[in-house]
Amino acid sequence: MTQFPDVSRSQELYKRAGELIPGWTQLISRRADQFARGVSPIYAQRAKGSHFIDVDENEYIDWVNAVGAIILGHADDVVDGAVKEQIDRGSLYTLNSPLEIELAEELCKTIPSAQMVRYTKGGGEACSVAARIARGTTGRDKILVCGYHGWHDWYQAANYGVDPESGEYPFAGIEPTGVPRALAGSVIPFTIPSPS
Ligand SMILES: Cc1ncc(COP(=O)(O)O)c(C=O)c1O
Repeated sequence: MTQFPDVSRSQELYKRAGELIPGWTQLISRRADQFARGVSPIYAQRAKGSHFIDVDENEYIDWVNAVGAIILGHADDVVDGAVKEQIDRGSLYTLNSPLEIELAEELCKTIPSAQMVRYTKGGGEACSVAARIARGTTGRDKILVCGYHGWHDWYQAANYGVDPESGEYPFAGIEPTGVPRALAGSVIPFTIPSPS
């Protein structure tokens, strides 16, 4: 018989989160209902390389890999060493840091199509900037999208085109409450048909 790990501490924390944090988590793809509820871990406490340990002390291979963000694995020694060194020199200045120029030069060298670099603080913000640039340079308002791009109005307006309960786009049960109705029709979602 398959032995499932005990994830009771995870479950307890999730219950507490539900009382304090709207939607439980900071990312929809981290919600318990995205995985096998009652069996999958919900909270991690440490990670190294390709493995992580949940709050119930179970160890797993992290196939999801921080939704693809941790390309060198968890707690990489070189990356973490550099971050720790910088923390000792201060991590947020009133002035600019020369490191932003060094990184921009590195990115332009590495990405053939990149001529200049503008940093943003999150994925949704980066997508909003891209939508603004696209509309500004083409003079056209309609944007075709596929997949998830954050919670900002320009993108969530896509939910006006579909039945929120159907789960069609982008997540079942999420209604575009608070998104201006004037944006309805400005973003057109499409899904790539699965091979039959
Ligand atoms: C493709 C894509 N764009 C945008 C976002 C939103 O990023 P953030 O939560 O950093 O705003 C995500 C988040 O999962 C994403 O997967």
